[in-house]
Amino acid sequence: MNAEKNDLNSLIDMDKKNIFHPATSITDLEKNGPRIVKSAKGIYIEDQDGRQVLDGIAGLWCSNLGHGRPELAQAMANAVENLDYFHTFNGHSNEQQILLANELMKIVPDNLSHVFFGSSGSDANDTLIKIAWQYNISRGKPSKIKVISRWQSYHGTSISTASLTGLKGFHKAFHLPLDFVIHTDIPHYYIHGQDGESEVEFTQRLLDTLSRQIEEEGADNIAAFIGEPIMGAGGVIPPPTGYWAGVQKICNDNDILLILDEVVCGFGRTGTAFGSEHYQVKPDMMATAKGITAGIFPMSAAFISKEVHDVMRQASAEYGGFSHGYTYSGHPVGAAVALKVLEIIEQEKIIENSKSTGAYLHERLHERLANHPHVGEIRGKGLLAAVQLMKDKDKKIPFDVADKVPAAMSSACYQEGLIARPLPSIGALALSPPLITSRHDVDIIVDRMYTALKKL
Ligand SMILES: Cc1ncc(COP(=O)(O)O)c(C=O)c1O
Repeated sequence: MNAEKNDLNSLIDMDKKNIFHPATSITDLEKNGPRIVKSAKGIYIEDQDGRQVLDGIAGLWCSNLGHGRPELAQAMANAVENLDYFHTFNGHSNEQQILLANELMKIVPDNLSHVFFGSSGSDANDTLIKIAWQYNISRGKPSKIKVISRWQSYHGTSISTASLTGLKGFHKAFHLPLDFVIHTDIPHYYIHGQDGESEVEFTQRLLDTLSRQIEEEGADNIAAFIGEPIMGAGGVIPPPTGYWAGVQKICNDNDILLILDEVVCGFGRTGTAFGSEHYQVKPDMMATAKGITAGIFPMSAAFISKEVHDVMRQASAEYGGFSHGYTYSGHPVGAAVALKVLEIIEQEKIIENSKSTGAYLHERLHERLANHPHVGEIRGKGLLAAVQLMKDKDKKIPFDVADKVPAAMSSACYQEGLIARPLPSIGALALSPPLITSRHDVDIIVDRMYTALKKL
């Protein structure tokens, strides 16, 4: 026991001494130390103190099939033994990525025709912006450079995607956003709807602003509009009625490519294969990652429409190769894992479970939490949900960011044995449990959150 404690202490010391953690305050880490996750199985992780804690956020919106699945370990091991790695530049390929692309094409929106593989959500978005630029240069429209994104959105943390991200914390102290980005309104009716304004009127106001921004900038200078079908890290925000159809029309009218970032929503999270299916919208380009390998291998897949591909095809005569790619593009091990993930999604009816158990999650959250004086809104779709905490819900006054209420609430949940993600920029708490979560698990999640809220 003592030896174990010493091991833990030395791990903590080594962590503090050597690791620069993502999205972590250095001084907080020095004070509190890291939280070391020892192992994980199913929908539970085991922490450094040997506690089993329910993983209510599927790692980071990605461990969709639960942790520690032997079939995925086996798929990975087989792939390593057969072909551990070879690059895919200059026309090289491998069986796993070929089969994976073939399977993906059966489930993505039918206007998408080709896929580009990478290793993260950020690189998928980055790739699509570069394709949008080359597409426009090739069509003789080189001034189409700018990309419209929404405040409160999250698209990654590379220099370009942090610029697209609409959270100011990701800009400050980094000379960002770069000036190719134009940010537009947050499509969140509960927080931004005006007194007496209906949801449909709210949507129209946002669409009018978008049209005005395009007119002011000049459509000839705008390459693309990017958005998550349902915003994730910015607050789990489903769009208001008619929003995506309206955005699509404006994009079409102005010759602007519509990029949907399905990095969180894709592969079943919201109860459909892709988030776009809820909103009758067809992207010209689509970014995916996370759930494609259920989080166990870093992989992304960026899709483009046939129309975009046709232009890129012609451009390749002029520009030669598409001068873009990553060492790990089309990685045979990642592709083998993704193929197995797609098989499990189908066999275990994972998307159906996300839809029906997700509906149950929302029902239970409403029943238990909606009347709480500090719960203003419960929102989301499928197994993606957020609980909006408000200082005064009748007057719609949010808590001060400095009070760090979501972080305190997340700690209180952890004490009850539940991981829920604080979303400080909006004052909410997110839930996105693995898509294998059962109704019984939902009861546990909601009970634990209810107790944490009561104690807080
Ligand atoms: C919607 C969305 N897009 C892009 C990303 C960036 O993905 P990554 O962290 O793999 O670069 C994320 C990450 O959470 C995301 O939620």
